[in-house]
Amino acid sequence: MTDPVSARPEPASARPGPVSVWHRLADTAVLLDGFHALKHALRFGARVPVAVTADRRAALALAAELAPDVRDALDALLTEVPQATYASLVPRPHPTAVAALAVRPAREANLGALRRTPRTAPVVVLDDPRNLGNAGAVIRLAAGFGATGVVTTGTLDPWHPTVVRGGAGLHFATAVERLTVPELPPGPLFALDPEGEDIRGLKLPDDAVLAFGSERSGLSADLRARADHLLSLPMRPQVSSYNLATSVAMTLYHWSLTGGAPGTR
Ligand SMILES: C[S@@+](CC[C@H](N)C(=O)[O-])C[C@H]1O[C@@H](n2cnc3c(N)ncnc32)[C@H](O)[C@@H]1O
Repeated sequence: MTDPVSARPEPASARPGPVSVWHRLADTAVLLDGFHALKHALRFGARVPVAVTADRRAALALAAELAPDVRDALDALLTEVPQATYASLVPRPHPTAVAALAVRPAREANLGALRRTPRTAPVVVLDDPRNLGNAGAVIRLAAGFGATGVVTTGTLDPWHPTVVRGGAGLHFATAVERLTVPELPPGPLFALDPEGEDIRGLKLPDDAVLAFGSERSGLSADLRARADHLLSLPMRPQVSSYNLATSVAMTLYHWSLTGGAPGTR
């Protein structure tokens, strides 16, 4: 940074410290809680204005061992702060004692990605999900399978800190937004429901919109009305349904068997 009066570099002591930057950004930024969330966010291009750790040496050793691709970025970003300062910035200290704030991607950019056609990988829709942990697990799955994005309908905020924690920083690897049913991205809509046609008889196209119902009440009437196909996952009689996130996992896996999912390495 440059001092505008003297045009000389500003002394480090005059720069805002990580804690004041943290407090300035905390209300609008995305909390990356722990080493792995920060690692994933950096890999997928998140802008990270501040990152702290209570043990810089341990964090960089972890990077050297598990994520050498982001070690230099972490070396440049991470500021060591006292344990008590770190603990005051996060809701609950993480075993890796690392935390960072990332800039949330612009909604317009995400909407552009969700609506772009032709699409090479499905969009996952969670219709009025209730459980924040399920939503995080689904975002992690979508990132792993290279899905175009995850859309939620209803009141749950897919960028809620608990969802971000469950997603392990992978919100930056796919487009995550909340929309209404009439606003859903284009593409054939396959809604998953235990009463549907067996998914095993069908190839899911790359431009599919894959919709899953709420944990409590299943698919909403609006979503059902919009669906082009109702599909079921194999399940023996007397079992009522699977968990939401495991249903998404099975469906994306089914798509990956014939669709354009990424390779394993
Ligand atoms: C926990 S279930 C919802 C159960 C809810 N009580 C109901 O009436 O459907 C959450 C969602 O997972 C999906 N799901 C669960 N089991 C399924 C199955 N066997 N076949 C297709 N979808 C399933 C559906 O999208 C369902 O709406």
